[in-house]
Amino acid sequence: MKEGAINIGLIGLGTVGSGTFELLQRNSDLIRRRAGCGINIRRIAVRQKDKPRSVDVAPDLLTEDAWEIVNDPAVEIVVEVMGGVEPARALLLSAIEQGKSVVTANKELLAKHGAQLMDAAREKRVDVNFEGSVAGGIPLITPLKQSLAANRIERVTGILNGTTNYILTRMAREGLDFDEALREAQQKGFAESDPSSDVDGHDAAYKLAIVSAIAFGSRIPVEEIFREGISRIRIQDIRYAAELGYVIKLLAIAQSESEGFELRVHPTLLPVEHPLASVSDEFNAIMVEGDGVGRVMFYGKGAGAGPTGSAVVADIIDTARNILHGATGRIPCTCDQSLPLRRYEDVKSMFYFRMLVADRPGVLARIAGILGEEGVSIASMIQKGEQGRLAEVVWITHRARQKAVDRSIQRIQETDIVPQITNVIHVTE
Ligand SMILES: NC(=O)c1ccc[n+]([C@@H]2O[C@H](COP(=O)([O-])OP(=O)(O)OC[C@H]3O[C@@H](n4cnc5c(N)ncnc54)[C@H](OP(=O)(O)O)[C@@H]3O)[C@@H](O)[C@H]2O)c1
Repeated sequence: MKEGAINIGLIGLGTVGSGTFELLQRNSDLIRRRAGCGINIRRIAVRQKDKPRSVDVAPDLLTEDAWEIVNDPAVEIVVEVMGGVEPARALLLSAIEQGKSVVTANKELLAKHGAQLMDAAREKRVDVNFEGSVAGGIPLITPLKQSLAANRIERVTGILNGTTNYILTRMAREGLDFDEALREAQQKGFAESDPSSDVDGHDAAYKLAIVSAIAFGSRIPVEEIFREGISRIRIQDIRYAAELGYVIKLLAIAQSESEGFELRVHPTLLPVEHPLASVSDEFNAIMVEGDGVGRVMFYGKGAGAGPTGSAVVADIIDTARNILHGATGRIPCTCDQSLPLRRYEDVKSMFYFRMLVADRPGVLARIAGILGEEGVSIASMIQKGEQGRLAEVVWITHRARQKAVDRSIQRIQETDIVPQITNVIHVTE
């Protein structure tokens, strides 16, 4: 055990910063034993020093200038939990260039500029650890880098956003419509006042970019991930899906197939017996499939002060161990390939269609005919209550290419028998 302590600087004392601070205080003895030395918080940067805090911090520990931390020669680990791209990128890059290791929970920064930070860290042989950036408290990054390192990863499927999972769960359980469930999530603190990053799938796409870079050893341009959020999901879709034996989840999917590499975030009908189907409320879960290990599942709380603080502190401990043993930079970034992404229109999937059709003989046969001509075959169909002279019809297709489905939709919409295709959602087998 080393005498004294390793100095860290914390940039941010919001949700994650407070959870990190609290755990470092509460578990300081066991953290000292596990790290091999004490962890001393030398300075904490915030935007506004006099703001009320949920943790009891000595006022002289606070600064409004994050550069004081980065430029302090005594700080060995810079812990960034402030969020956003700038100035976080500039601060971490400077810390790395000065030979400091960094810990961050910043998914947006890593998804957009991870390569730049990793290249700089490799050059300086320092650590960049980021377990908290994906799925909060659930260990996933370290298992992928270490425990599953022997495997060729075939597929990663995750519920990576707690806000949307909470909303979809409330819609399914309580029959709330999307807007009501979103309002409730905001009141309970599970959704931001501007929910677009969660609801539109950006947050899940950032996390998918980070996870798949590690899993597949490739740089991932986050803007090339196909992304669709949950705001088009209606309570009818959830009810019809249930009748057909499915639940609807926002899934992040990365898979390597013989025809290419696929990355997508979109709502999906999952069979009720699928291991991810029972993941409810604000919980996250990730299923990883490797050629040696088979399927492994990770489940837990994907956000919040305690869970994310747990991941950040674990990274601090790991980094401290490496510093003590002169072993920082031991696990450099291995995503040095640039795997070509399969175009979204070439992706194959089963699909759910919900549409309003003219309620007269021959209509269903005509729709089925168009689908058949485009190579989209029907697995099941249910016809629901009439709405005047219209009937609501739900179809589930067999696996078909996205572009065949798009062409079918266009042709069906050109007829006079389908006033509205209300929703089209992916279905997993
Ligand atoms: N919240 C979660 O559950 C969660 C889970 C996983 C990952 N993350 C990631 O963790 C990061 C932090 O999230 P959070 O929810 O903790 O955010 P937050 O509650 O908004 O806290 C941000 C903190 O950073 C400080 N800050 C902002 N700009 C600053 C600046 N220019 N200089 C110094 N300090 C600055 C703020 O200071 P003031 O307190 O003075 O305003 C605040 O303490 C984000 O990257 C987020 O994506 C969050």
